[in-house]
Amino acid sequence: MADPVLSVRDLRVEFPTRRDLLVGLDGVSFDIHQGEVLGFVGESGAGKSITGAAIMQQIAAPGRIAGGEIRLNGQRIDKLSRTGMERIRGRHIGMVFQDPLTSLNPLMTIGDHLTETIGVHLGLGRRAARDRAVSLLEEVGIPEPAERLRSYPHEFSGGQRQRIVIALALCAEPELVIADEPTTALDVSVQAQIIALIRRLCDTHGTAFMLITHDMGMIAETADRVAVMYAGRVVEIGRVADIVAHPAHPYTQGLIAAIPSLETDAERLRQIPGAMPSLSAIPDGCVFHPRCELADDLCRTRRPVLAGEGDHRTACHRTAQAEYAP
Ligand SMILES: Nc1ncnc2c1ncn2[C@@H]1O[C@H](COP(=O)(O)OP(=O)(O)OP(=O)(O)O)[C@@H](O)[C@H]1O
Ligand SMILES: [Mg+2]
Repeated sequence: MADPVLSVRDLRVEFPTRRDLLVGLDGVSFDIHQGEVLGFVGESGAGKSITGAAIMQQIAAPGRIAGGEIRLNGQRIDKLSRTGMERIRGRHIGMVFQDPLTSLNPLMTIGDHLTETIGVHLGLGRRAARDRAVSLLEEVGIPEPAERLRSYPHEFSGGQRQRIVIALALCAEPELVIADEPTTALDVSVQAQIIALIRRLCDTHGTAFMLITHDMGMIAETADRVAVMYAGRVVEIGRVADIVAHPAHPYTQGLIAAIPSLETDAERLRQIPGAMPSLSAIPDGCVFHPRCELADDLCRTRRPVLAGEGDHRTACHRTAQAEYAP
C-alpha cells in the first residue's frame, strides 16, 4: 500500500490547569490514505475535535501536544513554526467546520473569498483565479456559479454555504481535508447531499478525508474506515464494513445498536447507560469500564491496548486478544 497522506503516532495532548494536568488525548494513532475517508466517531467529549485541532496545531495554550508524531506525506508537521504551519494550512490541509458562517466573512462576496484564497495558495492571476472559482462552485453544486460570485454569504441557504466552504477548502487541491461535524447545523435532507458531495470529491480528487461526527449512521454510509474514540483514546479502528458487521468493543456495539436505520426492531434501539468521564476523572484501567457490562477486575486495573488481526484493532480485555499495557 502507498504511504499514508496523514500518519499520527502516539499523539498526546495535555491541558495543564492550576491543580491538575488533564490528558486530552492519550496514545492516539492512525493513518489516512489518499482518497480515503476516515471517520472519527464518539460521544460528546470523546476527543474528536482535539484530534483535528492538534493536527492543525490549533490547540490553544496552555494546552499542548506533549508527545507523539504527526506526519503529512512523511514530513513531521507537529513541530513546525507558526509560519511553517501557515504554509500547510489551506494549501495542504483544508478545513470544514460545523457552522459555515464561521469560515465566511459576511462583508465579502463569495467570489472575493474564493479568488483571494486561490490567489494566496496558487498564485494565479485574477482571470485564472476567477475561472477556477467558477469551476469549483460548479463542482460543489452551486447553480449559475458565474453570477453567484457577486453574492454575499447571507444570500445563500445553509446547505449552499457549506458547499461554498467545501469549495474554499478545496481551492488549493489539499492532500487532506479535516471536516468537523460538517453537517450538524444542516437539515437532515441537506446532510445527505453534503455527505454525498464530500464522498464524490474525495473520489475524484483523491483527497484524504478526516470526517469527525457523533453520528455513527453517517460514518456507516460515508467512511471507508472508522476510528471510535472514547475519553481521549481510540478504542477501536478498522474498516467500516467490518466494524458495523462485527463491532468488537462494547462501546462500539452500543453506538451501532443506537443507529436507527440499521436497527430492525425499534424496541431494541438503545442508548449506552452512563456518561463519558470528564478529563479530571478518567478512571483507572479501561476508560470504559464503569459503563461496561463485561467489566471484570482486569478491566478495572489494567489499561487495554489496541490489538487485533490485520487492520481491525480493538482496545478491550474481554473481546480482543489484547496485550496488557504496563
Ligand atoms: N482547552 C481545553 N482545556 C481543557 N479541556 C479541554 C480543552 N479543550 C477540550 N477539552 C476537553 O477535552 C475533551 C474532548 O474535547 P473535544 O472537543 O475534542 O470533544 P469532541 O469529541 O469533539 O466532542 P463534541 O462531539 O461535543 O464536539 C472534553 O472533555 C473537553 O472538555
Ligand atoms: Mg467536537
